Amino acid sequence: SSGSGASGEKVLKVGSSIDFAPFEFQDEGQAEYQGFDMDLIRAIGKEMGYKVEVSNIGFDGLIPALEAKTVNVLISGMTINDERKQKVTFSAPYYESGLTMVVREDEQNIKKFEDLKGKKVAVQMGTTSAKEVKKLEGVEVKELNTPADCFMELKSGGVDAVVNDRPVNDYFIQKSGQTGVKALPERLTSEDYGIAVAKDDKELAEKIDAALKKLKDSGEYDKIYAKWFGD
Ligand code: ARG
Repeated sequence: SSGSGASGEKVLKVGSSIDFAPFEFQDEGQAEYQGFDMDLIRAIGKEMGYKVEVSNIGFDGLIPALEAKTVNVLISGMTINDERKQKVTFSAPYYESGLTMVVREDEQNIKKFEDLKGKKVAVQMGTTSAKEVKKLEGVEVKELNTPADCFMELKSGGVDAVVNDRPVNDYFIQKSGQTGVKALPERLTSEDYGIAVAKDDKELAEKIDAALKKLKDSGEYDKIYAKWFGD
């Protein structure tokens, strides 16, 4: 059920949680959403001959919005996993990620995930970070709306660590010139991102996969990758 616009034009109605630089974010004073996922889905839409319209929806509201058919595509740094596969159909993987943690720069006691025992950890609600940290024994988990909220909570001393996707942690620290916090090298998981469509929308998933493959073959995917992860 790919959407049609007023003029009969095909539309990808995309849901994304615009809080996840460098995948999806909005700079102050800029109307357009930016990031790797945004460039990728626009390139996919162009390849398919579909118009792309993006709605900003909180991460834990994305799958419900897809199920309610408010949107027909999700791209949001979303990890492919079995639990979500019960509810959505994923494209082929398009980005390799995983979880790391961020602590205050002067932190002496937390060097590895096992050191989180007895500590307070902030995670974004509805994410794989929330799921994984809940599995660790003796950790007090604080689920907040956005990664930015998590980092703020860390800086203000409300939690001892933030667990979140590695490229987002690295970007937060390196590119946005953050001070007072550091990312630790240990990886808790390895995860693949996928584009999600409704469970019964296999045809749309196939079209997206075909477009993704074309972008990989043509070098366009590599250009977008280099733009966001180049140096
Ligand atoms: N990869 C993680 C997950 O799928 C986090 C994704 C969060 N995305 C976002 N746009 N905030 O659960």
